[in-house]
Amino acid sequence: MTAFRFFRWLLFAMPLAALAQTQPSAPIVVETAHVSLVLAVGPHQKLYQTYLGPKLAAAADYQGLPPRHEAYPPAGTDNLFEPALRVVHADGNPALALEFAGVQTAKTGDAATTTTIRLRDPLYPVEVRLHFVAYQREDVIKTWTEIVHHEKKPVVLTHYASAMLHFEAPKYYLTQLHGDWAEEGKEVESQLTSGTKVLETRLGTRAAMYQTAAFFLAPGRPATETTGEVLAGTLAWTGNFRLAFEVDNENALRVSAGINPYASEYTLPAGQVFTTPEFIFTYSAQGKGQASRNLHRWARQQGGVLDGTLPRLTLLNNWEATFFDFNEPKLDALMGDAARLGVDLFLLDDGWFGNRYPRKDDTQGLGDWQPTTSKLPNGVGHLVQTATKEGIRFGIWIEPEMVNPKSELYEKHPDWILKLPGRPEDYYRHQLVLDLTNPKVQDFVYGIVDAQLSQGAAYLKWDCNRMITNGYSQHLGKDQSHLYIDYVRGLYRVLDRVRQKYPHVPMMLCSGGGARADYGGLKYFTEFWPSDDTDGLERVYIQWGFLNFFPSNTIASHVTNWNRQQTLKFRTDVAMSGKLGYDIEVNKMTGAELQFSQQAVKDYKRLSPVIWQGDLYKLRSPYEGNQAALMYVAEKQDKAVVFGYNLRTRFHETVLPVKFQGLDPARRYRLTEINLLPGQKSDLPANGQTHSGDYLQKVGVVLSDPEAKPLTSHVLEVTAE
Ligand code: GLA
Repeated sequence: MTAFRFFRWLLFAMPLAALAQTQPSAPIVVETAHVSLVLAVGPHQKLYQTYLGPKLAAAADYQGLPPRHEAYPPAGTDNLFEPALRVVHADGNPALALEFAGVQTAKTGDAATTTTIRLRDPLYPVEVRLHFVAYQREDVIKTWTEIVHHEKKPVVLTHYASAMLHFEAPKYYLTQLHGDWAEEGKEVESQLTSGTKVLETRLGTRAAMYQTAAFFLAPGRPATETTGEVLAGTLAWTGNFRLAFEVDNENALRVSAGINPYASEYTLPAGQVFTTPEFIFTYSAQGKGQASRNLHRWARQQGGVLDGTLPRLTLLNNWEATFFDFNEPKLDALMGDAARLGVDLFLLDDGWFGNRYPRKDDTQGLGDWQPTTSKLPNGVGHLVQTATKEGIRFGIWIEPEMVNPKSELYEKHPDWILKLPGRPEDYYRHQLVLDLTNPKVQDFVYGIVDAQLSQGAAYLKWDCNRMITNGYSQHLGKDQSHLYIDYVRGLYRVLDRVRQKYPHVPMMLCSGGGARADYGGLKYFTEFWPSDDTDGLERVYIQWGFLNFFPSNTIASHVTNWNRQQTLKFRTDVAMSGKLGYDIEVNKMTGAELQFSQQAVKDYKRLSPVIWQGDLYKLRSPYEGNQAALMYVAEKQDKAVVFGYNLRTRFHETVLPVKFQGLDPARRYRLTEINLLPGQKSDLPANGQTHSGDYLQKVGVVLSDPEAKPLTSHVLEVTAE
């Protein structure tokens, strides 16, 4: 570097105010009420992580911890393992060194502290800023990274982790969620061995179809729900992610979280800031349950999910009741049914649009967002009116990022579609993905949303039914390796615009089931659809998996006829443990079933503040036996709701009492079974009894009929006296 360029770089990298902070005598402590992440400047002016775990009692103990692990190791110099960042400089040199250049700490409201650490390369004008927001009460730390340079020409980023965390323990246990369509959220725990275990996706749009970007990591020994140390982490990114767990030759573990750099070298012009997505984590010394509760509280109260503390709408969806086969009178009747059921909203699903190519099935019409006149002669306006007359609200399904080749949109704008020139188009569900890197496409997608919301829709279900294959953007030209990243940024740009104009309209994020369950999306959405699989038994597992990382008010759980062999009560009891909705033919219910469901909706509305805002305690895991149980406890500990499910219980299987959690041991609580069919008597001995919190937590209650019949369930309302 010439003397002039070095001088210019110094000026850029070291504002005077920061000079004083370049040599912190004390370690940099990012801490919450119970968790600390400690960083310190060590040999060669590098930044090291010296501690991560439960907060130490004496702050003085943070001094002098050994600097063994470079906090955010760059590639190309002396790093031998997974790099956090790799930069190929404008001159082709692929090496980066990062020295500490300053730290700033600021209060963010009364509940959080933001720490920003600046690192810079002494040779090249590259600066990295590590941001940490520590949320005191929730014990959650949110971290992301900014990368900027002032070289003469663009540099290329080939690795760009949001964060890296380091552990030293004899053993490590990783819990992940994996699956596929209709079998999402399956929980698996495995011991990490030497080498790298990677949870990642390369699917682009329907990104999390096989893996969810969230995990538990227990150092030392496996954590249970209530015991052991465990980190819970999740990446806020609605696209390709990569979570890598590398155990090195000394059995140290580095966890790297970020956008998946697969096929995504990013060319960064001088002065432009590359901002990674946020990595959100918490650390619990009391098992996974506490870690989940920390994330839930953070999500609800610190903007992790849109309007996390506001009420949700119960709804009736028509998808499974009608599929594509409906018309105006049929929908009018369904809205009457929704009102009779007592829900807040009617949600019209797929099949309402397209005229030249009406959406009669999934082979055509996607992209043409005008109501099909033969089905809906009076448009969406009429449906909004009917809903209003019925005293409910109206919501609508869109899949605005996609197009069927049989559509007017496809004919008009072939340049708006991701597809490889010169190769055959590759269809999935008969459709292709629009190019959201293109601002014109962003405008188009925004317009679809705006049109629905401006004509009175009070709720949107935003779907995304395919992944990217044969991905090529005409808009990006030579920068094809920006596609996966710029796509997601384009999506967020649209959602930012939507939220500017409609800050609070509830929206459900759906992706052919649960392939978009992440906190990047939930900043804009109030809830997500975890799976098309609404079989009650399957949902016990699917919801269980997602509840590890996402609060119940984000997990849309609908009562459907996916499995008619299961009783309506079982399916209802399962759906009520999440964000309740219906997707069922109400007019085919028996009188007793309708009465039961009306009462269930009423009870749910009454209890939803506890279910949505209360603390979740997972009492018995479906992965460990034939029964599952969970409960929500109001913050004031005056109310709780307990759900008990017999799964595939065997003939005369003994079902042991379930010990409650989260109650005040000194208070007395009355137990009342709810969700009974009309005329049905409770078969729970505990029904109607009053016990102390102490008793309920030490002795417990049997949550099963005496015969332990499979696929039966019980819901107990627990009220402090
Ligand atoms: C996806 C969704 C379903 C439904 C259909 C409509 O599969 O997950 O809930 O909306 O699309 O085509």
